[in-house]
Amino acid sequence: MVRAGPATEILKGKTPGNLLDVLGPLGNSYPMPTKNQTPLIVAGGIGIASLFFLAERLAKSAYILYGARTEHELFFMNELKEYARDLLISTDDGSNGERGTVVEVLSNFLTRHSSLVTRHLIYACGSRQMLEAISKITADKGVTAYISMEENMACGIGACLGCAVRTKDGYKRVCKEGPVFPIEEIVW
Ligand code: FES
Repeated sequence: MVRAGPATEILKGKTPGNLLDVLGPLGNSYPMPTKNQTPLIVAGGIGIASLFFLAERLAKSAYILYGARTEHELFFMNELKEYARDLLISTDDGSNGERGTVVEVLSNFLTRHSSLVTRHLIYACGSRQMLEAISKITADKGVTAYISMEENMACGIGACLGCAVRTKDGYKRVCKEGPVFPIEEIVW
C-alpha cells in the first residue's frame, strides 16, 4: 500500500481483525447495460478503484481500457485480465501496453469498431481533464457514457455542498446526486 498522507498512514498501521468505521454506500452507482449494449470500461490512474467492482460484475462482457503514467501505477492486473472481454493497457511512458493516454486508446478503439459505435456504453473514471476529453469524443461520435466524478468531500451526505459540480441542470452534489452522471450533463 502506498503512503500518500495521514489517512493512508493510519490504514497502513492496521492489521487483519482491526475495526474501521466506514460511512457508505453513498450516492448512486453505474447503471447496468442493456442486452444490446457493449460495455467499455475506461479507467485513468486511480479511477480504476471506482470501476473495479463494475468490471467484476460485468464479467467477460466489458472491454477494459486502463491507462496510467507508468506500469508501477497499474493495479489489479490479474483480476482485470480475468474479468475483461479484452484488456487494453496504456502508459504515458510505454512501460506497459501502448504508449499514450487511455483517451487515445479509446478514440482508436471507437474508430476500429465504428460500425457498432452506437451500441457502445462507456463507463469512465479518471482525472477531470481525461473525462472532459472523453466528453468531446462521445459528443462527436454519439456514444452513451456515464462518468464517475471525483471531488473533495467533507460531509459525504449532501449537507455541506462542498462537492457540487456544475451541470446543465444547475449544481449537483457528487456525494448525493452523483458520483455517476451521464457525461453530457456536466458543464466543463
Ligand atoms: Fe458535503 Fe457532498 S460532501 S454535500
